[in-house]
Amino acid sequence: MWIETFDTVVLGAGAAGMMCAIHAAAKGGSVLIIDHAKTPGEKIRISGGGRCNFTNIGTTARNFVSGNAHFAKSALGRYTARDFIALVERHGISYHEKTLGQLFCDNSAKDIIEMLLKEMAQAGVQLRLRTTLEQLRKTESGFALTLGGDGAAKITCRTVVVATGGKSIPKMGASGLGYQIASQFDLPVTETRPGLVPLTFGEDMLQDFREIAGVGLDACVSCGKTSFEEAVLFTHRGLSGPAILQISSYWREKMPIKVSFLPRTDVFDELCASKRENPRRSVANALGEILPKRLAAYLAQANGWAGVMGETSDKKLAAIAAVVQGWEIHPIGSEGYRTAEVTLGGVDTDALNSRTMESKSVPGLYFIGEVVDVTGWLGGYNFQWAWSSGWAAGTAI
Ligand code: FDA
Repeated sequence: MWIETFDTVVLGAGAAGMMCAIHAAAKGGSVLIIDHAKTPGEKIRISGGGRCNFTNIGTTARNFVSGNAHFAKSALGRYTARDFIALVERHGISYHEKTLGQLFCDNSAKDIIEMLLKEMAQAGVQLRLRTTLEQLRKTESGFALTLGGDGAAKITCRTVVVATGGKSIPKMGASGLGYQIASQFDLPVTETRPGLVPLTFGEDMLQDFREIAGVGLDACVSCGKTSFEEAVLFTHRGLSGPAILQISSYWREKMPIKVSFLPRTDVFDELCASKRENPRRSVANALGEILPKRLAAYLAQANGWAGVMGETSDKKLAAIAAVVQGWEIHPIGSEGYRTAEVTLGGVDTDALNSRTMESKSVPGLYFIGEVVDVTGWLGGYNFQWAWSSGWAAGTAI
């Protein structure tokens, strides 16, 4: 087998790995990037419904979940959403803001992958696909790697960058390699769990949810002190929609979540007005004037809100409004890594330099992107972290 030498080997040709490879090679170093998949950037390709929500113009460290709320500030502050937008614009990729600062490609997520591949080719990065890491060990001057698969080789290098992502969507190539490498070098890894994932419920609630599957509406969903105001969607398997995905990253087993439907409406006022206007209307029908009808019927039946509005006291209407705007439910779990968009937790930020992403205890070993214990909210924040952390490592190498 050949012995080859590179300055840097990047493990994982996803968003963070490709960004890092571009900047490491632009500085003049020889860079090899490997991936076990047959194509690079598979998660970019499927992201944002095929249009890739590639950044969020409002990105700050507050939009991330991490053991250290300050860790992401350095990279995010030095390579910003504006910097990535400038790159996208230089490549003539048209985009639009969908909502809440979320930028999507007008055409296809493939535009972003092509852009990164072009930048890698221009910088002279070598890309090897269908290539696996069989062995990694520290040497006096750097690292020795044994690669298997199509790119089988023995490699020596000064720097290794781990950009192998998290555990979500295993059938798309997600693996625990990054965490294994951290453990091999005695770096701490915080507990990992699925994030941005639909929540599941017990059979009793599911039976009810099936009746209202497909209903979607705006709500404010809270768990503990965190809340998100976005859409909620009832499905055959439980609850989904952006507000639920967001809160799932904060939800822990046995915690209840609170759903406030119509968070910007004074539901009590609306019900009182409805009672004045049409006292013969049933409670369910009155609720159906302000909520989706199937949801109103479900809530009325589940809570025993029978009778007509004229015979319902204001006190009762206040109690109904309180349920509509403070529905407490107990998820039993989540759909797990099969559908989770991200992995919470990962390589402990205490072990890394926040400016360079280099391990504090193993010089030359870097961790970037989702494998690190920095997880963004839904809305383009996770890609921005991949770009920023990839840039921070690439320019530091
Ligand atoms: P990423 O997972 O992108 O790349 C890791 C690479 O390492 C992969 O190419 C993988 O094949 C490779 N690899 C893994 N194990 C390996 C091994 N053992 N050997 C060799 N190679 C290995 N975020 C966002 O900001 N906006 C969005 O629109 C979306 N949409 C979205 C949709 C869906 C369905 C998912 C699952 C996720 C998103 N995300 C998102 C999240 C986003 O995709 C994610 O945070 C980034 O891709 C993380 O980038 P990384 O480069 O860290 O990992």
